[in-house]
Amino acid sequence: MSDKKLHPVQSLQGTVRVPGDKSISHRALIVSAIADGACRVSGLSTALDVQSTAACLKALGVKINKAKDGVIVHGVGMHGLQPPRKALDAGNSGTTIRLLAGMLAAQNFTATITGDRSLRNRPMRRIIEPLELMGARIDSDDFKAPLTITGGPLRAIDFASPVASAQVKSCILLAGLFARGVTRVTEPYHSRDHTELMLQEMGANIHSSEALAAVIGPSELHARDIDVPGDISAAAFFLVAGALLPNSTLVMENIGVNLLRTGILTALTSMGVNYQINDQVELNREPRATIAVKSATFRATTLGGAMIPRIVDEIPILAIAATQAEGVTTIKDARELRVKESDRLAALAANLTKMGAKVREKEDGLIISGPTTLHGAELDSYNDHRIAMAFSIAALIADGETTIKNVDCVDISFPGFYDILESIIHDER
Ligand code: S3P
Repeated sequence: MSDKKLHPVQSLQGTVRVPGDKSISHRALIVSAIADGACRVSGLSTALDVQSTAACLKALGVKINKAKDGVIVHGVGMHGLQPPRKALDAGNSGTTIRLLAGMLAAQNFTATITGDRSLRNRPMRRIIEPLELMGARIDSDDFKAPLTITGGPLRAIDFASPVASAQVKSCILLAGLFARGVTRVTEPYHSRDHTELMLQEMGANIHSSEALAAVIGPSELHARDIDVPGDISAAAFFLVAGALLPNSTLVMENIGVNLLRTGILTALTSMGVNYQINDQVELNREPRATIAVKSATFRATTLGGAMIPRIVDEIPILAIAATQAEGVTTIKDARELRVKESDRLAALAANLTKMGAKVREKEDGLIISGPTTLHGAELDSYNDHRIAMAFSIAALIADGETTIKNVDCVDISFPGFYDILESIIHDER
């Protein structure tokens, strides 16, 4: 496992292209796998998490071939998946295990799906309960992976999810494709809707609004080429970095700007950051655009409620930004961060404290006072890609050297992150 040493830099300049959106990439592979023919997925994320999804689908008998800028997925239809020879490995990926569980619940075979140590500690009761209500049997130890899923004919349910989670919602909608009748999911706040949009694109009978997502089954899916836009959750690190460093301008091309993912832009606006959005187009129902950002003076903000699902993966980098903002930034209603790839509230509080930030950890969030000068420190990545990347950006504005332990995890979502960072550093010293 490798460590990374980082130093302060003067400014950042340039044009950045980030990997394909991770959430949309998972869905493109999974939905195409059960469509009625072959389709091309271009712009597919190179993230290890997405490779985990591809490997699981291959183990279920789906052919996925490399193609220019992506893959060709040979859909096997709604009833063409084959029993896997051994346990499916979702690696570090919550999206892989939860979405595939929805599909496995409807198969006429038993399959086990598991993952790495972090994934085996993450909560699965949130999908086990609804899938069992639909008629699947799921064996687990204390509602944690490995999950052994015995599928079969499913019944449609009305499910009120206690958490705003696109993974839970997508799991149930994918199962609902196979159930006769209307499967409805409501959630406390609207989470990302990429599954709904992609299922619509492939001809499923699916309806969604802020309050409700509903699918009418059984459904057939028609193979359709998919172009995946760049990942705004990856771009977020550079958006914040470009605004934090003086004399900086960064341009990010082809970034997905689905309104349920652009909370980072709303949050940055409330913190006093200006950005421009140009060249917006829509493909496969997903909007994408060029975003340009330049240096700004940050002010404090409050982030909570319906905003949290829209910034759920961006809170680590927003916490770094908050240390440079004038005033007290409050992040609340963000308990879900405790059950991500790491306990992100604890990881953020520990690392920010080591860098000299003024931070208080609450049960459901963080309170950060600024501005404070950050000091270089020896930090842990907690084997969490977003913690590693957020603190790599913090290191650029800190005084002295920062070492981040175990940064290999960055490849979970953003292979090439450090090469891009290297290419935009401008330092005359
Ligand atoms: C994701 C949903 C979010 C997010 C994760 C990806 C998805 O998780 O944090 O990185 O692709 O559906 P939850 O749905 O559990 O909040």
